[in-house]
Amino acid sequence: MAPTTVTAGQDGMSWAELGYPMARSCPFDPPAELARLRAENPVSRIRLWDGSSPWLVTRYEDVRRILSDPTVSADTDRPNYPFHSEGLRIQRANSRSFSFFDMDDPDHARYRKMITSDFTVRSTEALRPLVEKLVNELLDAMERGPNPVDLVDAFALPLPSMVICHMLGVPYTDHDFFQEHSRALLDTTMDVESSMRANDELRAYLSDLMAKKEAEPTDDILGRLAQRYVLTGQLGRDEAVSMALLLLVAGHETTANMIGFGTLTLLQHPERAAEVRDGDTTVVKSAVEELLRLLTVAHGGLRRTALEDIEIDGVTIRAGEGIIAAVESANRDETVFESPGELDIHRSTNHHVAFGFGVHQCLGQPLARLELQIVYPALLRRLPNLHLAVPLDEIRYRDETVIYGVQALPVSW
Ligand code: HEM
Repeated sequence: MAPTTVTAGQDGMSWAELGYPMARSCPFDPPAELARLRAENPVSRIRLWDGSSPWLVTRYEDVRRILSDPTVSADTDRPNYPFHSEGLRIQRANSRSFSFFDMDDPDHARYRKMITSDFTVRSTEALRPLVEKLVNELLDAMERGPNPVDLVDAFALPLPSMVICHMLGVPYTDHDFFQEHSRALLDTTMDVESSMRANDELRAYLSDLMAKKEAEPTDDILGRLAQRYVLTGQLGRDEAVSMALLLLVAGHETTANMIGFGTLTLLQHPERAAEVRDGDTTVVKSAVEELLRLLTVAHGGLRRTALEDIEIDGVTIRAGEGIIAAVESANRDETVFESPGELDIHRSTNHHVAFGFGVHQCLGQPLARLELQIVYPALLRRLPNLHLAVPLDEIRYRDETVIYGVQALPVSW
């Protein structure tokens, strides 16, 4: 749903009337109400698009506790699961569209294990030459093409899409189709019919692809899933499609937004950008972690339901109630991160929760890190004069999608 602008905790308005997600006053920072909630009401009822009032947990330690608590469920079939929108609720009700993302252990672990080895630090490190080659080719094409250009279109979206296509064995030539449909799946303002259509069409596409991979083995993640698990009866075709959908959507939308929004942030901090451009691996790694923390693109909180009563900060969350773990707030917790609103690329410790925490912690984080660590310095080295081609206030942001970022980033060099 569209962010709400209600304020609470003052003028007699109760916290439970505070809508979530709230509107941002600055596009680079999470809503200011979250800081007040952390200070005054860290476990608080808020109001969602459907009138329900789950708990919003805003402090770092509490967010990590909720996300690592085995009595907290990620299962979207539970009655009070706090969905992002009606469209997302209907998608999930009709199919386990996001596979193990929506499951609890032991099922979650059983499915996740089928692909864990493809996403270890070691396996993704083997992709470094490919990622570097793709980055160079995209930058070559940018230099040959029009100037100014939309960096999202020319670089931020193609790179992670190409990489995940390579890993999964999805033809990149179909990128227009799956990028548009992935976007629709994550758009909280999408009407139910369009949201369902996007889900059905993407599933039908991936089902055809899985059928081909069952008939003819291919050496890629979906090919191995087909041969090892579907054909041996350990995984239904539909379940494999859900897994493919999760990996395809999560594998490009998130990183693409970190590339676009991260680049915009660096352009607003030229001295930091110069350090990333000229810095060694340690500086680049630390800058990537800091951008992940500061920008927290999974800005709509991580959604759960309590299976048992939970005592937290003097509040009792009852079994069956919905919970939102606000990672975007936890990553700005001033008791954990000094000057949390600042881009400090030299933080000595930075255990942020931008990739979540606990058993559902992002499977693709080594891949995302690899891509981001290559992308930012490569972009700034190749195009040292990179700058915005429009005034900053003309940039439009993705307030209404589950993953935050810029809609477009017109740049020149
Ligand atoms: C900068 C980029 C990324 C960010 C910020 C990000 C963020 C997240 C977060 C916050 C979660 C936890 C969700 C929850 O607990 O409810 C998650 C889970 C997940 N992510 Fe990522 N992600 C990124 C890139 C990727 C990539 C490249 C992949 C590759 C396929 C990926 C695949 C997944 C999967 C499969 C899960 C579900 C894990 C589970 O439920 O066990 N992500 N991600």
